[in-house]
Amino acid sequence: MNPMDYTIEKFISEKEIKDKIAKLADQINADFDGKEIVAICTLKGSFVFFSDLIRSLALPVRCEFLGLSSYGNQTTTSGEVKVTLDLNSQIEGKHVLIVEDIVDSGITLQFILKYLEARNPASISTAALLSKPDALKVDVDVEYVGFEIQNQFVVGYGLDYAESLRGLPYIGILHLEE
Ligand code: IMP
Ligand code: MG
Repeated sequence: MNPMDYTIEKFISEKEIKDKIAKLADQINADFDGKEIVAICTLKGSFVFFSDLIRSLALPVRCEFLGLSSYGNQTTTSGEVKVTLDLNSQIEGKHVLIVEDIVDSGITLQFILKYLEARNPASISTAALLSKPDALKVDVDVEYVGFEIQNQFVVGYGLDYAESLRGLPYIGILHLEE
């Protein structure tokens, strides 16, 4: 990708992200008090949020990674979800917390929920740093939402455009040059 082809508008700062994660962690700590959870990082986009979130939790946490791909190199969903890496251990009887970067159409999350429910966890809930309520195409519940945003394409803090820009410490809105 040629850096001349886009600009990035600063949108959510590092400080705002940090404060929001502290709030989400407080809620999760209260809701799961006394329980162990299996936190599932949905790769690739969630790895930065996941790392910050699990370090804010005061619960015993096991970490698992689930690789998924639904977007080619475009900014609109293909609607097709593929598992590229499966969990490393069983989740039967465990309290599962899916950690998602962003819920857009909801198709990926709906797929993950079905995929994991089949393994009979004790409970299953979801934390998403971002959600685009106007883009939802399926009915999915997200218990812990960081920021509800408009229908815009965002990058940074783990989120990519064509595999670039994941390392930005803040969240920006991507503007592609016509
Ligand atoms: P969904 O299946 O349409 O809900 O899309 C979910 C996945 O698409 C997310 O986990 C992201 O990996 C990717 N995605 C959706 N919206 C954006 C965005 O604005 N920026 C970067 N990736 C996105
Ligand atoms: Mg994702």
